[in-house]
Amino acid sequence: KIIVLDFGSQYNQLITRRIRDLGIYSELMSHEITADEVKALNPKGIIFSGGPDSVYADSALGVDPEIFKLGIPILGICYGMQLMAYNLGGQVKSDNGQYGRAAIQVTSDDAKLFANTPKQQNVWMSHGDLVTKVPEGFTAVATSPACPISAMQDTTRNFYGIQFHAEVRNTDYGNEILKHFAFDVCHADANWSMDDFIDLSIQHIRETVGDKKVLLGLSGGVDSSVVGVLLHKAIGNQLTSIFVDHGLLRKGEAEQVMNSLKGKFGLNIIEVNAADRFLSKLKGVSEPEKKRKIIGNEFIQVFNDEAQKLDGIDFLAQGTLYTDVVESGTDTAHTIKSHHNVGGLPKDMHFQLIEPLRTLFKDEARELGEKLGMPSDLVWRQPFPGPGLGIRVIGEITPEKLQIVRDSDYILRDEIKKAGLDRDIWQYFTVLPGIRSVGVMGDGRTYDYTVGIRAVTSIDGMTADFARIPYDVLAKISTRIVNEVDHVNRIVYDVTSKPPSTIEWE
Ligand code: XMP
Repeated sequence: KIIVLDFGSQYNQLITRRIRDLGIYSELMSHEITADEVKALNPKGIIFSGGPDSVYADSALGVDPEIFKLGIPILGICYGMQLMAYNLGGQVKSDNGQYGRAAIQVTSDDAKLFANTPKQQNVWMSHGDLVTKVPEGFTAVATSPACPISAMQDTTRNFYGIQFHAEVRNTDYGNEILKHFAFDVCHADANWSMDDFIDLSIQHIRETVGDKKVLLGLSGGVDSSVVGVLLHKAIGNQLTSIFVDHGLLRKGEAEQVMNSLKGKFGLNIIEVNAADRFLSKLKGVSEPEKKRKIIGNEFIQVFNDEAQKLDGIDFLAQGTLYTDVVESGTDTAHTIKSHHNVGGLPKDMHFQLIEPLRTLFKDEARELGEKLGMPSDLVWRQPFPGPGLGIRVIGEITPEKLQIVRDSDYILRDEIKKAGLDRDIWQYFTVLPGIRSVGVMGDGRTYDYTVGIRAVTSIDGMTADFARIPYDVLAKISTRIVNEVDHVNRIVYDVTSKPPSTIEWE
């Protein structure tokens, strides 16, 4: 494996990802790791990530200098290069900074990381300070007008520094550079696969849990479902799951999850049908944030109530993903992230946490699910918010309105799937704005609800564009919803992107 030490760059988890994409296991670690701890991990290489600090700042994040004596190859990226230079006797200067694509010139024929790449190439720069003198033993191997020492190397100790970000796609040969480091310098083997991950996880879970019991909160979402199947494979009936059905799930979703997890995989699941409880709490409430809070709190309450009835549970399992863990950097990685799909952790419970997915990215979690034999329908479901359909009925939630959203959503999903668009569109759902308008059906006048269709393309949900669903597909959806769902006589299509809108309407 190759470990990445975290100095706070926004790109740090991308480095890990790129290394994993090479088939080498990689993990992000705190920069506070000691040389002894590194030695125990026995990595083939170490990467120092970038970071927002200057090495001269009072708050500058440092590194255990003994790490340089372990004989393990090190690649410093951006701040990581400056830190390396600073620690080993080079010079770093504050500068105006340089942000964006820049052309560098490779100045040495023996520049190891640049082997078989053009002498002139474009890279992504994003730095304030820069190295102005390489430490003893190093040579500068690449240059650019704004950053005379763009890369340096010490091939004896196997220390390398690049001022630019090889991990971002805007660096033309970034992947080659990382490959050269991983394979030519570190001699790492490309042998990390999801099958290994499954074997190792199961072994680890068994060692951790022993003969004790584990509780899992199933939300109906992908992550907790995958955790359930993995844990069940590892410890069988030592796992008890609680599935809280808040009555705000999509049509058929609770059944789908239960049939698969309980029916096919044989998980021991306590299903709590709390729809009435949630609905009565939500009665008369129309303010979006208030609705969200009520749903979140109620979720914890219901989960808590059920968990109290169980005896002898020592562990609580969660579907925390890598992105959840590193959102706030590895230094805080051990604080528990309130899992928004489960609505947060019961505060007065003193469980030990088990988070088997905490090193995986979302698409890796999906791949894991498929490897475990879960149906791809279940594993590749679109993102679904914790408060569920509760925030897709705009304003006050009533059983009638919930039914309209649920039924129209079902038809929309069906038609999107039939049109073969389900993997291309990030999210697609219906909303009920609560307005009514005049229509004509048969020979009669109607005064019924309008249903909105929301469909967006996105990479991460942070920004989004409305999906260009073909008109004939929209026409079919529209006809079916009006014909098959009572009290709907008009369909509108949301053509705003995010920003300025959000994906959900509430
Ligand atoms: P917005 O509406 O903010 O949504 O553009 C961005 C993404 O987040 C999802 N979302 C939520 N997910 N709990 C969740 O687990 C929530 O309260 C919540 N609110 C929005 C939304 O579906 C979209 O994918």
